[in-house]
Amino acid sequence: MCYAIPGKVVSVDNKTVTVDYFGELRKAHIIDTMVQPREYVYAQGGIVVGKISENEALPILETWKDHFFELKKIDAGLSILDKVSFPILKKVETLTKNEMLTLLAVEDKSELDSFYHTANKIRKERLDNACCVHGILEFSNYCSNNCLYCGINCSNKSIERYRMSEKEILDAVDYAVQLGFKALVLQSGEDLYYTDGMLVNIVKKIRKKHGILLFMSIGERSKDSYKKLYEAGAYGALLRFETGNSKLYTHLRPGKKLEDRLQLICELNNIGFVIATGFLIGLPNQTKKDIINDILLTKSLQPDMYSFGPLIPHPATPLTSVPKPTLDDILKVIALTRIVDPEAKILVTTALETLSFDAKEKGLMAGGNSLMINITPQKFKKSYDLYPGKVIDEPLEETVKKTVGLLHSLGRAPTDLGV
Ligand code: 5AD
Repeated sequence: MCYAIPGKVVSVDNKTVTVDYFGELRKAHIIDTMVQPREYVYAQGGIVVGKISENEALPILETWKDHFFELKKIDAGLSILDKVSFPILKKVETLTKNEMLTLLAVEDKSELDSFYHTANKIRKERLDNACCVHGILEFSNYCSNNCLYCGINCSNKSIERYRMSEKEILDAVDYAVQLGFKALVLQSGEDLYYTDGMLVNIVKKIRKKHGILLFMSIGERSKDSYKKLYEAGAYGALLRFETGNSKLYTHLRPGKKLEDRLQLICELNNIGFVIATGFLIGLPNQTKKDIINDILLTKSLQPDMYSFGPLIPHPATPLTSVPKPTLDDILKVIALTRIVDPEAKILVTTALETLSFDAKEKGLMAGGNSLMINITPQKFKKSYDLYPGKVIDEPLEETVKKTVGLLHSLGRAPTDLGV
C-alpha cells in the first residue's frame, strides 16, 4: 500500500526536488511530473510519481500527523540495543568475507538475537521507520523457460495456465490503487504472447490514470523492449539474477547464461530503471560463500531494493526433494545484508512467509524494511504456482488490513518517503 505520505515541495533543482515531510527533508527525482515549489507530491523509490492538490493533501496530512510521530516512537522503543554480544557486529560496511561467514554460521540463540537486533538498529538509525509495501500482480503464468526450481516452468503440465486480458489487468490495478497501493509490480513468466506494444499500452493506460511507481517483472527481454516500457512510464524493473555462481546458474536455468542476465540488469540500470534484484537461498550445492558473493554482487548492481528469498521446493520440479532453508537461514542473510549495505531497501519476500506464520515480523525485525502483497485476483492466484505454500484464499482487503496492523504494531509507516 505504500500509503506514500504526500510531501510539500520545498525546492526544485533541475531534475531533483526537495520534499518536506513533517519537517524531514528528502530528495526525489523528476521524470515525467512537472512540479513547482509549494506543490504536494507523492514520491516512490526516489521518484516523483504524482501530484495532488493542496486541498486533497492537507486532510491526508492531518490524519497522518500524530500517527507519524507515534509510529516513530514505537519503532525507537523496539530498536533499543543494550549490548552487542560479539565484536564483529560493531563493524558496519567493513566486514571481511571471513567475518561474514562467521555471521552466517551463528547458531547460538543469544548470538542470533544480538545479530538480528544489531541489523534492526542499523535499519532504524539509517532509514528510520519507512516501510515500502508493494503490490504484485501476476498477470500470466505461461513461461518459455525450464528453470529447475520454478513451478511454472514450461515442462510442468499439471498447472492450469492463464493470461489476464488488458481489461483484467487494468481492473486489478484500479482495485489495488483504490486500496491505497502506490507501487505495483506487473509480473509474469517469460511470455512473448504479450508483445512490447501490448505491454506499452497497458503501462501507458495505468500511468495516465494513476500516480504510482510501476515495476515490470517479465524476465529477459531486449534492452529495446525495456526502453519502450520505461518511456511508457514503467520506471521500475524487478529481475533477480537467481544465483551468481555461473556453474549453478547454467545447471538450474538450462540454455541460459549468467552473464546475459547480469548484463541486462546493468542495461536496465543505465536506462534509468529503479532496480530490484537478488537471488535464491537454499539451492542445491550452494555454499555460504556463494551466498556472501550474491549479497556483494547484488550490492554492486546498485539496486533500489534487495529481493532475495528461500527456495521452496516445488513437487512438480526436479528440485522437489531439496531441503527447505530454515527461517534463520534467511533472517541471517537479511541481517547480514543490512550490515553490509546499511541504507538498502531489503524486501521480506512472500516466499519467506511460507516458512513460518511470523516470518514477516521476524524479517522486519532483522533488518528488513519492505514487503510485497499479492494483488492477483483470487481466481488466478492459485495457478501462479512458483512454489507451494502460498496463501491463496485470503481476500486482499484482509491481507492489507493485517499488514497495516503488523506494521503499526512494529512502529513502521507504510510509506516510501523518497531518497
Ligand atoms: N521457490 C522460491 N522462489 C522461486 N522463484 C521461482 N521458483 C521458486 C521457488 N520454487 C522465484 C525466482 C524468480 C521469482 C519470480 O520467483 O527467484 O525470479
